[in-house]
Amino acid sequence: MGIRITPSILNADLADLKHEIARIPSADLIHLDVMDNRFVPNLTFGLPMVESIRASTDQLLDIHLMIAEVDRWAPGYAEAGAESVTFHVEASDAPVRLARELRKLGSRASMALRPATPIEPYADLLPELDMILLMTVEPGFGGQSFLDVVLPKLRRTRALLDAHGGDIWLQVDGGISESTIERCVDAGADTFVAGSAVFSAADPDAMVRSLKAQAEAAGAR
Ligand code: DX5
Ligand code: ZN
Repeated sequence: MGIRITPSILNADLADLKHEIARIPSADLIHLDVMDNRFVPNLTFGLPMVESIRASTDQLLDIHLMIAEVDRWAPGYAEAGAESVTFHVEASDAPVRLARELRKLGSRASMALRPATPIEPYADLLPELDMILLMTVEPGFGGQSFLDVVLPKLRRTRALLDAHGGDIWLQVDGGISESTIERCVDAGADTFVAGSAVFSAADPDAMVRSLKAQAEAAGAR
């Protein structure tokens, strides 16, 4: 099982993102949190910022859209050249149509679930998707504590993905650190967002490599 670390720049210096992204060359993708103060009670940045980041780095971009009316806005991020675009299923009127549109525009299509949203109603959508993101905090802010309550859903999602076959990534986001990543590996995650754990470290890239090594070791057990 491949392990990917996708650091979130939410807790980085947002006025100096080009430099901040250059500090984490070991990242598999760069996770960008778009918030609109509607779907979540916080506001970050939108498409113009992502377009500027796209132009400033060759790193792969993993866009996490925490926005309302996502069917309308998500395709623009794929058009901007993001490698992966994640929409929240709670914010989408037509997730199948949206996922197909994202893939047609050349992006990976990814669907996110809040902690209290069950996976089972969406099991039949797996053929349309390249990644499932399970939030392990309530979305909206970096630096929150990991919610163990999501682990049973993570295990059930892993079982659904294994039964489906193929190579759909299973990402967790929120409170991922050296003290929580192994629980997520054990429950079946393979792709890990880490924001504060990476950017509060003295050497962010060393933390990315260390989280990856720790997850790989846990996966091999
Ligand atoms: C929270 C965001 C996360 C956040 C993670 O709603 O989706 O990506 O930046 O930050 P940490 O790792 O600090 O929980
Ligand atoms: Zn995120």
